[in-house]
Amino acid sequence: MKNQSPVKFKSESKFIHFWDSIVLLLSFIYCVETPFMLVFNIAPGPKYLFYDIFVGTIYLCDIFVRFQTAKFIDGKWVDSPHEISQNYKQSGFFRDLMTVVPFEVIVTVLGGPVLLGHIFSLVRLVRLKLLVELTNRLQNSPKFNPAFIKIASLAFWVLLSAHWIACGWIALGGFNEKYSITENYIRAFYWCITTLATVGYGDITPQTLHQMIYTVCVMILGAGMYGLIIGNISSILAKKDSAKLHFQEKVDKINSFMRYRKIPTSLQLRVNGYYRYLWESRMGYDETEVLADLPTNIKEDIVLHLNQNIIERVAFLKDAEPTLIRDLVAQLKPVVFTPGDCVFKAGEQGHCMYFILSGKVEVTSRDGKKVFATLGEGNYFGEIALLLSQPRSASIRAIEYCDMYLLERDSFEHVLTYYPKFAEHIHELAAERASQHKTSAA
Ligand code: CMP
Repeated sequence: MKNQSPVKFKSESKFIHFWDSIVLLLSFIYCVETPFMLVFNIAPGPKYLFYDIFVGTIYLCDIFVRFQTAKFIDGKWVDSPHEISQNYKQSGFFRDLMTVVPFEVIVTVLGGPVLLGHIFSLVRLVRLKLLVELTNRLQNSPKFNPAFIKIASLAFWVLLSAHWIACGWIALGGFNEKYSITENYIRAFYWCITTLATVGYGDITPQTLHQMIYTVCVMILGAGMYGLIIGNISSILAKKDSAKLHFQEKVDKINSFMRYRKIPTSLQLRVNGYYRYLWESRMGYDETEVLADLPTNIKEDIVLHLNQNIIERVAFLKDAEPTLIRDLVAQLKPVVFTPGDCVFKAGEQGHCMYFILSGKVEVTSRDGKKVFATLGEGNYFGEIALLLSQPRSASIRAIEYCDMYLLERDSFEHVLTYYPKFAEHIHELAAERASQHKTSAA
């Protein structure tokens, strides 16, 4: 087997993102400038020729960088130099190689016609493919709002196309000697936008047959573009509010059901209050449903992240081993209680314990008249019945909207079996609480 040196970059690295941005910026300048110089037949000056060589050199460096960049393709890293070069050769190496050639310089040195240099240089437009890749990458990146990226890329392509179409109009005779180059360009761009937007004031009209055919094509393109823009924007807006829409549909359905079944108004108000709380606290997302499709490990990481706060605050979880916390967190089920809800009553059999994420509950006597304690965020309850195998020692009543995690007996016992030290510790805590409770209840 050949001894292959490891590649230097990863496609996700900051350097590659920075490098891609530079290549893209240079390509963008080309896309704007070359068609402009082509239609006005502007001979490249020394600065432009230098720029031509400079861009060619950067493109050449880019090819070297690509050969040294590991890529994530079809779920695996393509990171051996041999695989990378095979992949690159099949997916754009020759296209990129063509763009390295400084055609403007070659044609100028050989004394060829200016137009020829410009036409050959248009080959560098293929580098815009990078923009499509970059946009896809940004749309999938959690750091950026995909709707914003979509609108920005749409606006960019519309403006760039308008520039090219305006250049095409000039090439077809839209050039008027009366005006300067800038004025000619502005008039062509104005014509292009009015035609694309299907406004068509008619102040600049096609004079020749070629211009008429061109105008018809631009008008057809304009209608398509218009549809594309409107379609994209409305789909972005619909998606933006899809969570709200989905939630509102659910609320409307339950409201019409309650009206139909003549549920008392006070109960209807409670239901509406509950939904309002769900919307305000989590935009109506059901955590279990949203995370259901994720692989267990990622799901555990997300739940761990979401519950970092509670893990830090619950005394007996604070010093627990990370593996234990992971096992425990994976078993937690989110539940919500509204003010006045009875979580359970004293004397009932216990099947689960609870961790309070937010809100407050009261620990009371069975009739609810005597309050032994108030528990809030980061507290837990219901462990005594599970650990000491006895009925609930007190009733629990929510006094605010409460977000809690429920841990069922089986899961709890599973954790205790695997972590005997933790079992011992929590038994001690429960015994302490139970004796405290006996004293305060007496
Ligand atoms: P359990 O007996 O299963 O059900 C009632 C729960 O209330 C009990 O577990 C404890 O978790 C909790 N609890 C009982 N008494 C007190 C108290 N005095 N202070 C705080 N929590 C209590």
